[in-house]
Amino acid sequence: MGCRTIPGLFMALWLLTACTEQERWYTDAQVTAGKALFQTNCMSCHGVAAAGLGDDWEQKLPGFPAKPPALNGSAHAWHHPMKVLLYTIENGGADIGGKMPAFGDSLTQDEKLAIIAYFQSFWDEETYSIWQEVDAQNQ
Ligand code: HEC
Repeated sequence: MGCRTIPGLFMALWLLTACTEQERWYTDAQVTAGKALFQTNCMSCHGVAAAGLGDDWEQKLPGFPAKPPALNGSAHAWHHPMKVLLYTIENGGADIGGKMPAFGDSLTQDEKLAIIAYFQSFWDEETYSIWQEVDAQNQ
């Protein structure tokens, strides 16, 4: 491999990354607002930076049938189109026999969207693009 190939490779990789990076539906301001709202309303169950709780989750949430999933893209929140994410925040886990509380109208639509923007900001490009497909099929 000649010396000139290496910078060329880096350039190609950089271009590939730059070109595949997608526009997201949210703004930085929504992510910032969502972070504070997440910390107040969701972090006690969904963990710091939406990474989920540790193995001691049952001590923290006695009587809960299921561990609150991580929302940072490592679990399967990306399976859910936007309307299902909003529905879950509004109605909680009762429909599936779960115990996530329903937030109903205690958060405005803008606040719910900001929270979603915040946890989606942890999703890598691949996760986000799969979610976009799922979301587009469920309008
Ligand atoms: C008291 C604990 C608790 C709080 C607070 C809470 N959740 Fe949950 N959440 C859960 C549990 C537990 C589940 C799994 C379903 C169930 O058992 O109800 C869940 C499920 C979810 C899911 C579905 C994820 C998936 O991968 O299927 C989303 C999205 C979600 N929560 C978002 C939020 C958001 C956003 C907030 C804050 C506005 C929040 N939750 C607050 C406990 C909580």
